[in-house]
Amino acid sequence: MKLVWFDSIDSTQDYIKSHIQELDNDTCVIADLQVKGRGRYGHVWYSSQKDGLYFSIFKKNINTNLLPIITGVSLYNTIKRIYNITSFIKWPNDIYIMFDKPRKIAGILVERIKDSTIIGIGVNLNQEEFPQDILNAVSLRTVSCKYISKQEFLLNFFDAFYKDLDFYFKHGFDAFYRIVNENLLYKDKLITANNGKVQGILKGVDMNGSIVVEKGDELLILNAGEIEALRAQELW
Ligand code: BTN
Repeated sequence: MKLVWFDSIDSTQDYIKSHIQELDNDTCVIADLQVKGRGRYGHVWYSSQKDGLYFSIFKKNINTNLLPIITGVSLYNTIKRIYNITSFIKWPNDIYIMFDKPRKIAGILVERIKDSTIIGIGVNLNQEEFPQDILNAVSLRTVSCKYISKQEFLLNFFDAFYKDLDFYFKHGFDAFYRIVNENLLYKDKLITANNGKVQGILKGVDMNGSIVVEKGDELLILNAGEIEALRAQELW
């Protein structure tokens, strides 16, 4: 694996996109600050605090749409190993922790360009506070009272991620299916998405990585492309 580390950049995701022809497989681009960090659906990913961890991994010829879930499981495994904290996977691609209420600890953005994939990850690692308009975020340092360097977190993550990928290609999705369903945020809760157009009880994630939502006596199977802004009805 090759590491490229910037002090500041627009977005590690966009850097890979615009250098895709020159980069080797498994290049990881990290930046201490991002000026134009972005999340799913063009949302801004606030990245102007050096204590946050922002990186993207470039993978060639990887042919699965289960990568957001596999990456989520690798983050779950990393957080468990370093901090001994159980986190929750908010389908399809966020990691939450139960603090005073569910709070976001990491976000994943997987983008495909032809046969290449860019896996972008933002982790709330050591921030002590967030701007008021960033709702529901918390850092791993605040939750655990432990400062972990970016290098240490990354080494543990790479270890988990490459082992998990290898495991997936050798043995399939079963083990990931189990972890994601055992640690699924909002499982068995009433959820809404797409501005209230989707509503029902979140039953779990199926073997294709779609969610299963119970609506009356109907089971809806919905994939990540069909769902925006999944929320629980419950108030914390
Ligand atoms: C989300 O929560 O919607 C996903 C957030 C992904 C943020 C990461 S930070 C590193 C990489 N560069 C970006 O511009 N975005 C991803």
